[in-house]
Amino acid sequence: MKVVTIVGARPQFIKAEAVTRAVQRYNQRCRFNRRLQEILIHTGQHYDYLMDKIFFEELALPKPNYHLGVGSGSHGRQTGIMLERIEAVLVKEKPEVVVVYGDTNSTLAGALSAAKLNIPVAHVEAGLRSFNRTMPEEINRLLTDHLSTFLFCPTDQAVRNLLREGIKDGKGKIVKKVGDVMYDSILYYSKLAEKKSSILEDLNLFTPNSALGTPNYYLATLHRAENTDDPKRLESILKALNEIGRNTPVVLPLHPRTKKMIETYHLFSKFKNIKFIEPVSYLNMLKLEKNAKAILTDSGGVQKEAYWLKVPCLTLREETEWVETIKSGWNVLVGIGVKRIVKEVSHTEKRRRYLKGNRVFGDGKASQKIVQILIRHLVHSV
Ligand code: UD1
Ligand code: UDP
Repeated sequence: MKVVTIVGARPQFIKAEAVTRAVQRYNQRCRFNRRLQEILIHTGQHYDYLMDKIFFEELALPKPNYHLGVGSGSHGRQTGIMLERIEAVLVKEKPEVVVVYGDTNSTLAGALSAAKLNIPVAHVEAGLRSFNRTMPEEINRLLTDHLSTFLFCPTDQAVRNLLREGIKDGKGKIVKKVGDVMYDSILYYSKLAEKKSSILEDLNLFTPNSALGTPNYYLATLHRAENTDDPKRLESILKALNEIGRNTPVVLPLHPRTKKMIETYHLFSKFKNIKFIEPVSYLNMLKLEKNAKAILTDSGGVQKEAYWLKVPCLTLREETEWVETIKSGWNVLVGIGVKRIVKEVSHTEKRRRYLKGNRVFGDGKASQKIVQILIRHLVHSV
């Protein structure tokens, strides 16, 4: 069976790696004629070394079979060029299924190209909703889910969201809660990150003169269009981080989009208490997350990683698709107001509790389940 996997943006390299590893494990165990042939398409949505190749190298992802070199652009243009180039590859490769991840423009372009050619689409991370249609990601999720045949949901809430839109298991749709593939990844890589990453030493993030080398910093990430492209929101968040940075270092690995906007609005020189750094590798990121006093973020993936690593999280948004992290008390929606953010940071130590045995994001075997379901429905039916 031939599977085409489509990736393009940073979090998709991490998600796809978990499933690719499960495909490789499956292939090692089964007869030659039952093996899955995975063809990897990289749209080129992300292309800087630190947003792209570093993940292929560190996670030993196979080199893409096709690199479409689409690059940046407006939503319509970027998605349109992807659509045209993906279609050409799908016509040539004729896969039995196309697998797409998450909610980026690469996800939607992949799903739409395949659906128009009557190739079944498998959506990993199906059913997520923020119920905010001004987010480009919400449009991508909605459309991708409605185009998909296989809907691999990370949580029960995601299954319920789909049901509300009339998408349910049966009658040609396969809707399954399999758990979160990013949880599989973190289980696999977090020990390695602790051992291999020296980022805390490199950035000197310890309490001065502490004999045991106690980590002492907050970690922040920021890249959502709604926060970066509105100068008022961007400045308000940076003001809050700068305020926190007066007493405790705040490390902010900068997404290129955010860097560009901070430069455009001449904000770097205004916020001297923030430790701006380049984007980091996945292992360095896991190490930074695990040892932070708290994480402040607008990233979807980072909210979940904070929860799994048992680090308090403050989400710099008004809503989140990852409602389970909020219900657990581990994550708080703080918006972008300076006062609220600074106040909530002072409460984070109190929130260091974790609901033990919580399997809300699955059991760490989501990727394996995805491969099994695809095999059951596609290989065994031919
Ligand atoms: C995209 C996804 C978002 C996801 C994020 C993960 C969409 C609509 N958004 O947002 O859901 O959370 O990826 O990180 O698909 N740029 C570079 N170098 C790069 C990549 C981007 O300089 O390697 C700059 C360009 O100026 C570009 C801007 O960042 O215009 C935005 O990049 P884009 O891929 O359009 O969206 P992201 O904000 O990265
Ligand atoms: N990440 C990383 N280096 C960074 C920032 C993030 O490796 O400098 C990882 C992070 O650990 C998570 C994923 O990238 O696994 C999240 O991607 P991002 O925040 O770009 O996108 P989102 O999850 O919001 O779509």
